[in-house]
Amino acid sequence: MNLLKIMKSRHSVRAFLDKAVTKTDVTTILEAARFAPSGVNTQPWSVIVVNHDYIQQIGKAITTAKEANTPESPDYHYYPTEWVEPYKSRRKACGLALYSSLDITLDQTEKRKIQWYRNYFFFGAPVGLLFFIDAKLEKGSWVDMGMFIQNVMLAAKTLGLDTCPQASLAEHPDIVRKIVNVSQEKALLCGMALGYCDVNHPVNQFRTTREDVDTFTQFLGF
Ligand SMILES: Cc1cc2nc3c(=O)[nH]c(=O)nc-3n(C[C@H](O)[C@H](O)[C@H](O)COP(=O)(O)O)c2cc1C
Repeated sequence: MNLLKIMKSRHSVRAFLDKAVTKTDVTTILEAARFAPSGVNTQPWSVIVVNHDYIQQIGKAITTAKEANTPESPDYHYYPTEWVEPYKSRRKACGLALYSSLDITLDQTEKRKIQWYRNYFFFGAPVGLLFFIDAKLEKGSWVDMGMFIQNVMLAAKTLGLDTCPQASLAEHPDIVRKIVNVSQEKALLCGMALGYCDVNHPVNQFRTTREDVDTFTQFLGF
């Protein structure tokens, strides 16, 4: 598959096969991803790769915190507190597509919660990735992180693997840091589920849409 095809075929996968991903494969992905550009070559990324046991620990600890209504203490705000258009509608469409694929309606709050909690178990993926950045770095380095993370997702595709980037895992960074033994000097950007896509699972059937190029681009002088 050429790169353009890989870029277009990547999508978030939220159910995985019970098939192991080797350490060699994860290393191959990270070995390629590290060639992402970064301002003055700062390479601000640090990654923790976790297996099933750690995934269970993280999942149990975060769900316990959620059930106890422990306030979230993210290292940064991924989303705005107030949603405005056009993002509000896009967000709504995204949630609707996800829950409709599972036959979950808006009013089925318990079912929605159960599905949401699957995030904390990396949607059953055999491997979880946690992306940290030195908390002293500025917004520019967070941009670099995005490029690195996209590289990870595209490299995974070349090996027949799929991913779901997960900001949900950054809701309780202190819990995650404690389990994986990372100091507070590192901010948790997001997690990522990595594994072989369960192509038959209903949650993997829907695809999100994209705006056309001319809706977000202006060509000047062409
Ligand atoms: C940084 C980041 C964090 C995300 N966090 C979550 C998450 O916590 N849970 C989830 O189910 N999807 C998450 N997503 C996936 C988005 O919902 C998804 O990328 C978007 O709807 C577009 O769909 P696609 O990835 O299938 O193309 C995240 C995506 C990004 C880029």
